[in-house]
Amino acid sequence: MARIHAAITGVHGYVPDFVLTNADLEKMVDTNDEWIRTRTGIKERHILKEPGKATSDMAVEAVKGLLEKTGTDPMEVDMVICGTVTADMHFPDTANIVADKVGMKNAFCFDLNAACSSFLFSLVTASHYMESGRYKKIIVIGADKLSAVVDYTDRSTCILFGDGAGAVMLEPSEQPTGVLDYILKSDGSGRDLLYQKGGGSLYPCSKETLEKRMHYIYQDGRKVFKYAVEGMKNTLLEVMKRNNLTKDDIKWLVPHQANMRIIEYVAKMADFPMERVMINIDKYGNTTSATIPLCLWNYEDQIKPGDKLLLTAFGGGFSWGSILVEWGKPGK
Ligand code: UT7
Repeated sequence: MARIHAAITGVHGYVPDFVLTNADLEKMVDTNDEWIRTRTGIKERHILKEPGKATSDMAVEAVKGLLEKTGTDPMEVDMVICGTVTADMHFPDTANIVADKVGMKNAFCFDLNAACSSFLFSLVTASHYMESGRYKKIIVIGADKLSAVVDYTDRSTCILFGDGAGAVMLEPSEQPTGVLDYILKSDGSGRDLLYQKGGGSLYPCSKETLEKRMHYIYQDGRKVFKYAVEGMKNTLLEVMKRNNLTKDDIKWLVPHQANMRIIEYVAKMADFPMERVMINIDKYGNTTSATIPLCLWNYEDQIKPGDKLLLTAFGGGFSWGSILVEWGKPGK
């Protein structure tokens, strides 16, 4: 029997309407547009402001667009993985909620949290499920409402993050395509440099956790910056080397959008021209699990079936890695 591969047959994304600009942030904390642009590359970010709306609502919009684009009936979907660090609630999984809202009644669903690497980890996991030959349509989502956990009095983090969701469709193919190779890494010793400590089983919500602002994201940016550059660069170069690929064999570099300076440095180390690096940090900021699928959605018109892409990310945990992907033919 021919080996089954997981072809990527569609992508769609969603960002909320409300735009929070650097000028807006200047009125909220001691910062300025010039610092934010030169240190991060961010000009604005989209924020889900509507009361009662959560990560699942953005994921639903991305998934509905994906189903329409690929001509897929929701009842055909076998499985949904939602990469996220801002699930609607601790349980049930956001993927379950999305499936219910969209009518994907035959899908089994779960969330995967690997911080900013959640989409990469989810895509690899889903690809292996598809390779088992048991599934015909799997949806992989990367979605986050970081504004729910950002401290808008902390200038070192509040300027960085935005909200959004992206989703891709995987379908079986007998041709080698989809995820061709990957290196994924984890190192829990980095847990004190990037975290949201309150609200879990270690520090359940209490007066003290609220007073100490432990439900917000904390990052030692300077240290994380160095690990991020090293982690993305090393895995990227290793994946290229062991597949005998040069930059000319890769059409697009798709990096996690945490900082424009990290992106430029990683591209330079891989000798990759910036014209073939996907960028959306300027308009969306760091959308965590959504950065990579949103990039794929933004550049969709420029990606052709058969193009090779290198996806790379680094996030809290630490968690990081690089994936070599071949873009598939569009669904129906
Ligand atoms: O997505 C998950 C993984 N995360 C990352 O990869 C993020 C990695 N880190 C970064 O991208 C960068 O470290 C940041 C963008 C977070 C910060 O940039 P930086 O160039 O590392 O700045 P810094 O933290 O070293 O701060 C430099 C100065 C400090 O002032 P002093 O101590 O030099 O007087 C900060 O207090 O800039 C100050 N500063 C600000 N000034 C104006 C920090 N935040 C701001 C701000 N506006 N928003």
